[in-house]
Amino acid sequence: MIEKQISTTIQLFDSVSELPEQIQKLMNKAVEARHTAYAPYSKFKVGAALILENGEVVMGSNQENASYPSGLCAERTAIYAAGANYPNQKIKTIAITATSEKQEVLEPIAPCGACRQAIAEYEQKQKEPIEIFFTGSRGKVMHVKSLLDILPLAFDNKFL
Ligand code: THU
Repeated sequence: MIEKQISTTIQLFDSVSELPEQIQKLMNKAVEARHTAYAPYSKFKVGAALILENGEVVMGSNQENASYPSGLCAERTAIYAAGANYPNQKIKTIAITATSEKQEVLEPIAPCGACRQAIAEYEQKQKEPIEIFFTGSRGKVMHVKSLLDILPLAFDNKFL
């Protein structure tokens, strides 16, 4: 038996105002998207905005359902909208923000496991990394240069 360590690298910004201007704009779009969240059950509202290589921005927000598992996260709403409407455009960057009616969200909210898997598929499809910025309702912003930085040992189509 050998033991191996897997390490990853993230970049941490103190706040949105520290981000490059074009990423701040994308994060503003994510905030705009957050306002369209339909989250009557969790009261946790997430917005995602992604920018394509042609400069188009696609937005998504979480959409809940009385049958809980039928709901969908903001990240997948956005990425599937991009896949459906711009199938040949590469996705460059995704910005994500979350807020809650119950308490302030003061730490960066990373995409859930299912969303990571979905984003990983699009990295595979386009053969280029997708960078991700995620934050709470205010405070620090985390950045990764590729989805794979937050999904070690990813399952992908080369196993099929
Ligand atoms: N949610 C997202 O939209 N993205 C995530 O990555 C984490 C969770 C949503 C799903 C559900 O509507 C609510 O947040 C609480 O889990």
